[in-house]
Amino acid sequence: MAKTEIPTDIKEVSDLPGVGTQAAEKLNTAGYKTLESIAIASPAELMEAAGLGEITATKAIKAARDSLDMGFESADKLAEKRKLIGKITTGSKALDELIGGGVESQSITEVYGKFGSSKTQLCFETAVTVQLPVEKGGLNGNCLWIDSENSFRPERIIQVAEYLKLDSQKVLKNIFVARAYNADHQSILAEKASELVKEKNIKLVIVDSLTSQFRAEFIGRGTLSDRQQKLNKHLRVLAKLAEMSNVAVLVTNQVMDRPDILFGDPTAPIGGNIVGHAAKTRLYLRKSKESKRIAKLVDSPSLPDGECIYTITENGVEDAKDKE
Ligand code: GTP
Ligand code: MG
Repeated sequence: MAKTEIPTDIKEVSDLPGVGTQAAEKLNTAGYKTLESIAIASPAELMEAAGLGEITATKAIKAARDSLDMGFESADKLAEKRKLIGKITTGSKALDELIGGGVESQSITEVYGKFGSSKTQLCFETAVTVQLPVEKGGLNGNCLWIDSENSFRPERIIQVAEYLKLDSQKVLKNIFVARAYNADHQSILAEKASELVKEKNIKLVIVDSLTSQFRAEFIGRGTLSDRQQKLNKHLRVLAKLAEMSNVAVLVTNQVMDRPDILFGDPTAPIGGNIVGHAAKTRLYLRKSKESKRIAKLVDSPSLPDGECIYTITENGVEDAKDKE
C-alpha cells in the first residue's frame, strides 16, 4: 500500500478529529451521516451545518478522505476495482452490446434526446432489471430514483416486471422514489443518497431528468455560470457516489436546438461540456419508425462509437424484431 498514514480507527463521523459528539449530532441532523458524505463535502458546508471552524472542518474532511483511502491509487488497485464493475441489462441485446454489456456501475451513464425518445422508458427498464440476479443481467440490487419531472409511473414498472416474470409488488418495493422540487432539492437528494445506498442495497441511481430543474430555474438569466457551477457540483456528487459505492448512475438529459450548427444534427444536450465530462457513457436517443428507437454512443473513452436500433413496447425495452 502506497499510503502509510491511513487512520484505521476512524469508523464513523464522531471519530473524526475535532468532531465531538455534539458536532457529530449536528452533522447527522444536517444529513452528513457517513464518512463518505463528509469526504465529498466542502469546508464551508460543514461550517454551516455544524458550526465547525474552518480548520476543524478541513481536517475532518481530510481525515474522512484518508480513512476511505481516496486520492491516488496504484494502477493494479484500480484494475482490481474495475473488476467489480457491474452491468445492468437494458432489455435489448443490441443496446447492451453498444455500451459494452449494459449500464455500468462506478460511473455515470447519460441518455439524452428529444421528448418521446425513450429516456424515461430506459429508466423504467433498468429500475427493474437491476433487481435480477447477475446471470440474468441484473446486479441483485435495488433502485433509487430521483424524479424531477414527475414522470415516474408504477404502472410501467409493473408491466416490465410482469413481462420478466417477476413479482411486481416486490419489484415496486425495491424502487425508492424521491420527487425533486427544485435544483437545490435535487442536489440535496443526491447528497443524501449515499446513506440509502448502503442501507437499501441500492445498485442503480436514476436521475430523470438531470437538467430540467436547473434549466427552468436559471432561464432568462444573463449568465449561465451559476447554473453550470451548481450542475457541476451535483454531477461531482453523483460521480463520487457511483465510484465509491459501486453503483450505476443513470441520468437523462434533454436537448436544445443549436442554431449555430448548419450541417448535421442541430441538437445538443443541455449542460454542454460539464455533463459531457462527468458522464463516462453518453447515449443519444432518437425516434425512428413507429416504436423503434435509435441509440448512438457518443465519445466513449473505451468503446467504438456506433449506433443500434431497439424498440419500446408494452413490455419495455426490447430488441427490434425486423432489422430494416
Ligand atoms: P421526455 O421526458 O418528454 O423528454 O421524453 P422521454 O425521452 O423520457 O420519453 P419516454 O421515455 O417517456 O418515451 C415515451 C414514448 O415511449 C411514448 O411516446 C411511446 O412511444 C413509448 N411508450 C411508452 N409506453 C409505451 C407502451 O406501453 N407501449 C408502447 N408500445 N410504447 C410506449
Ligand atoms: Mg422522460
